[in-house]
Amino acid sequence: MTAHLEGPPAPVSIDLSESLQTYWFDRVRQHTDDSYAGIRMSKFPEDLRVYEHLLWTSRADVVIEIGAQFGGSALWFRDRLRAMSTYGRIDRLLVVSIDIDIEPARAAIADADPAYAQTITLISADVCDPDLPAKVAGLIPAGSRCLVVEDAAHVYETTMAALRGFAQFVPPDGFFVVEDGCVDIEAMRLKRDWPRGVLPALTEWLETPAGAQFKARPDLEIYGLSCHPHGFLQRVATPTGPQGSGEQSR
Ligand SMILES: C[S@@+](CC[C@H](N)C(=O)[O-])C[C@H]1O[C@@H](n2cnc3c(N)ncnc32)[C@H](O)[C@@H]1O
Repeated sequence: MTAHLEGPPAPVSIDLSESLQTYWFDRVRQHTDDSYAGIRMSKFPEDLRVYEHLLWTSRADVVIEIGAQFGGSALWFRDRLRAMSTYGRIDRLLVVSIDIDIEPARAAIADADPAYAQTITLISADVCDPDLPAKVAGLIPAGSRCLVVEDAAHVYETTMAALRGFAQFVPPDGFFVVEDGCVDIEAMRLKRDWPRGVLPALTEWLETPAGAQFKARPDLEIYGLSCHPHGFLQRVATPTGPQGSGEQSR
C-alpha cells in the first residue's frame, strides 16, 4: 500500500432504504482510503471534528500518537496544533508519533514538509516496550499538556500497554483517546480477521487505580458515527492518589 494518495476517497451515499449498518460498512471501507495533505490518514471526519474540540477545550500543546502508519494523522495533529497556536490557545506545540516501523511515516512526512522535525518527533518503537514511556517523557517539555491518541494494533496487549504507559502524560482535564473500539462490537465488525481486545483492555484498565483517575466520555461521540466507541477518556479535574498528584503532568 502506498503512503501517498492524491484526491479524496470515492464518495459514499446514503440510501435510506438500506440499513445503517450498510452505511457504517461503506464508511469504514472509505476511511481506509482517505488522506491528509496527500498522505494516507485513516480517520472519520466526525472523529477529526471531535479531536478539534478536544484540542480547543483542553489546550493540549503536545499530541502523543501511538501508531503513525503513513504519518497523515501526525501531520494533521501538528497542523491542528498550529491552528490552536494561531488562535492563542497554546504557546508551543509538539507531536510525538510512535510506530513499530516509523520509516513509512518519516518518508511521507518529510516529503510533505521537509522542516517537519521542528514540530514532529518520530520514534520507532514497540508500545509494549516498558522503557518507552520514560524515553518519551525525556522529549516532552516540563509543563506540557498532552493529548494521547492510541491507534496501534487494536489488540488487548497494545491497548493495555498504551494505557499503562501513557495515561500518566495526560494532565487533569486532559484527554486520552483509545481508537477503534469498534473492533469489539459485533455489529460494527467489517471483516472476520479484524483484531479484538481494545474494549476488554479499556474496561479492565478503568478498574485499576490509574484508570480510576479517568472518566469515560461517551457524550464526546458527538456526531453519532465514530470508530472509537467508549474510547474518549478524560482525566478527572481534581485527581486523588499518586497518579493524580499533578507531578506527572508534563
Ligand atoms: C491503524 S494504523 C495507524 C493509523 C494512523 N494513526 C492514521 O490515523 O492514519 C496502526 C499502526 O500501528 C502500528 N503498530 C502496530 N503494533 C504496534 C506496536 N506494538 N507498537 C507501535 N506501533 C504499532 C502499525 O505499524 C501501524 O502503522
